[in-house]
Amino acid sequence: WPVYAPYVAAINRLKKERGAVILAHNYQTPEIFHCVADIVGDSLSLARDATRVDADIIVQCGVHFMAETSKLLNPEKTVLIPDSKAGCSLSDSITGADVRLLKERYPGVPVVTYVNTSADVKAETDICCTSSNVLAVVESLDSDTVLCIPDEYLAMNVAKQTNKKILTWKGHCEVHERFTANELLAYKEAHPGIEIIGHPECHPDVIAVCDFSGSTSGMINYVRDHRPQRVLLVTECSMASNIQAELPDVDFVKPCNLCPHMKRITLPKILDSLVTMTEEVTVDPAIADRARLAVERMVNLKQ
Ligand code: 13P
Ligand code: SF4
Repeated sequence: WPVYAPYVAAINRLKKERGAVILAHNYQTPEIFHCVADIVGDSLSLARDATRVDADIIVQCGVHFMAETSKLLNPEKTVLIPDSKAGCSLSDSITGADVRLLKERYPGVPVVTYVNTSADVKAETDICCTSSNVLAVVESLDSDTVLCIPDEYLAMNVAKQTNKKILTWKGHCEVHERFTANELLAYKEAHPGIEIIGHPECHPDVIAVCDFSGSTSGMINYVRDHRPQRVLLVTECSMASNIQAELPDVDFVKPCNLCPHMKRITLPKILDSLVTMTEEVTVDPAIADRARLAVERMVNLKQ
């Protein structure tokens, strides 16, 4: 990767000079994931790690809600995102005003909000969740009915694992909603013995044909532990590239669905971010305390 080398060297030098730490989501490109990130992980582990970093500056390589979550948990630190336009279709699907209307419609029903939302939405929430703890969060609530928003498919998938009544919203991940059960069945036919593991943002019909479903780190750990000969990760396609180096014997079959938002983060933008100390993530103080509480309740939940 000679084309990346000058950026990698400059980022790693500047990172030290500035006292910055780079947190990167599992969907970041391999050159970010392997060459400049200090900590990689899924949404939950990145949120947890954000509470433990010593550095005064966090550079969040991921999408905006992830940087906002880090800022909520570290109000005194500087949190930078290399491209603040890195959004998320789930986060864009709902506003704080929508949640207020839902609460009027379902008075007393606790609101579980996926971490893939804005601080405005989190501020209206009882507790956040991610794909790795959604069942534990739902089960922790003392109510037979739970609002689990905004990801309709995540909610439908968790509804199959709990006796509680799950109400939801019509938000979808634009990457995971593209996968179909028929497409996966065709892969099974073409590659007998292939293991198929899917992210719970996929439609339940898709999860039904998967051998395992879990968060991005859950999927990585499954492949590490089970070492399937051939596997299909039903998720954003940088994930397979990121773990291929560590698992050269595993044959990753790749339908390539990229998240355009995650892909806004590039080495040149990370370098620019460290040089100019932009773009700084801020959260409106009027909502920050309430949003932080919802994230902290999730982070502190015993599992
Ligand atoms: P994870 O919490 O599993 O990392 O998922 C984040 C995400 O955005 C998946 O599309
Ligand atoms: Fe959002 Fe889907 Fe992209 Fe994850 S993969 S950041 S849920 S659009």
